[in-house]
Amino acid sequence: MAWDPAQYLMFESERARPFHDLVHRVDVDAPKRVVDLGCGPGNVTATLLDRWPAATVQGIDSSPEMIAKAAQLAGPRLSFAVGGIEAWQPDGPVDVIVSNAALQWVPTHAQLLLRWMSALSEGGALAFQVPSNVDSGAARAFRAVAARPRWADRLAPVAAAWGPSQSGGVLSGEDYVDLLGGAGHRVDAWLTTYFHVLPGEDPVLEWFSGTGLRPFLDALAPADHGEFRAEVAAQLREAYPPRDYGTVLPFRRLFVIAYRDVGGGPA
Ligand SMILES: C[S@@+](CC[C@H](N)C(=O)[O-])C[C@H]1O[C@@H](n2cnc3c(N)ncnc32)[C@H](O)[C@@H]1O
Repeated sequence: MAWDPAQYLMFESERARPFHDLVHRVDVDAPKRVVDLGCGPGNVTATLLDRWPAATVQGIDSSPEMIAKAAQLAGPRLSFAVGGIEAWQPDGPVDVIVSNAALQWVPTHAQLLLRWMSALSEGGALAFQVPSNVDSGAARAFRAVAARPRWADRLAPVAAAWGPSQSGGVLSGEDYVDLLGGAGHRVDAWLTTYFHVLPGEDPVLEWFSGTGLRPFLDALAPADHGEFRAEVAAQLREAYPPRDYGTVLPFRRLFVIAYRDVGGGPA
């Protein structure tokens, strides 16, 4: 599944906002080493240099296209590498692990969280944000079109994998708090709904073409993309009607920060 940095960055400021909201809340003084898992095109990763001026920052992403874009921002304190989140292991002490809008693409991520916590230095933090929209109008639109006879043979498995019961292995807020808090870590978690006002024609289709619609498009031959996108666009216009001032896309995101406190939690 190739990621397209240009398509993803069409809504750069809307997509960057939750990253800043997450990182702003991380209460770690002067971390030396910060890692951004699933860093994408690196534009938000680079802002960590100002957030933590004493830190070196590394971005990891499995997409060579995203890392090629991010590498243009690399410098003495900022590096990027192609790599899968599932296999990532710190090669030394890490003070802050950040992951914004990426863990929903890693169905096994919940099993990795405690391992990452034990890799943090004392006082360090794991901070992540995942979308929480399984019952949204967009998710319903994708599933409704995928179930049509024209598409079901190829898209029913995709809809099942990305449906309400799966959704990239994303847990409820309560379950993340329970998992991390139950292991002795201090946890700060919250849900936010952003009401993005998007410009242009079919902006919700464009928004998801860079992210959640990709597994569906990948399961189809390129020659079918136009027809499928047109059917999804019609459904999305019903779910998110265009207004004179733009199209409102409510988008809910779940934020979790867990701290490896001195004396708290397992080693
Ligand atoms: C929605 S983008 C988020 C990018 C960036 N974190 C941001 O906030 O703008 C999701 C990113 O996760 C990456 N990704 C998806 N699955 C991954 C995996 N298993 N390992 C590493 N990166 C992954 C994708 O390549 C993509 O760049």
